[in-house]
Amino acid sequence: MEKTFLMVKPDGVQRGLIGEILSRFERKGLKLVAAKFMQITPELAERHYAEHVGKPFYPPLVEFVTSGPVFAMVWEGDNVIALSRALIGKTNAIDAAPGTIRSDYAVHTNFNVIHGSDSVSSAEREIGIFFAPSEVLEYERTL
Ligand code: CMP
Repeated sequence: MEKTFLMVKPDGVQRGLIGEILSRFERKGLKLVAAKFMQITPELAERHYAEHVGKPFYPPLVEFVTSGPVFAMVWEGDNVIALSRALIGKTNAIDAAPGTIRSDYAVHTNFNVIHGSDSVSSAEREIGIFFAPSEVLEYERTL
């Protein structure tokens, strides 16, 4: 079953949006299989955002993502990567479709409330950075 890595960023935590965001994925029918409330170190940020090292927005991105706690999660389901990106909306809040998380809660690309993996390979890599295999649970969701 496909898995994705989602993370409520420090702005989402500060604004008290963890529950609201979590409930959107729950209501959609996706399955939560791991979660962790944690502080990202600069080293972890560099691993997670390795593809962006050297880009102009990289230094403020690391400063922001390490500025306070994040809520890291793994969700599971058929096409969970595409489905969750549809719920999240485009990276830039200006382009995010109405009703998406970023349209509803973000006004700036740098402070866009949530991160979601963009491919199967990114999801595997990101899940491996944030979670030990034993922290990703296997269970039946019957309802
Ligand atoms: P995220 O999905 O976490 O992945 C990389 C992050 O870098 C992105 O969300 C934005 O918060 C931030 N960012 C800032 N500027 C850009 C940009 N021009 N392109 C992509 N990401 C950007």
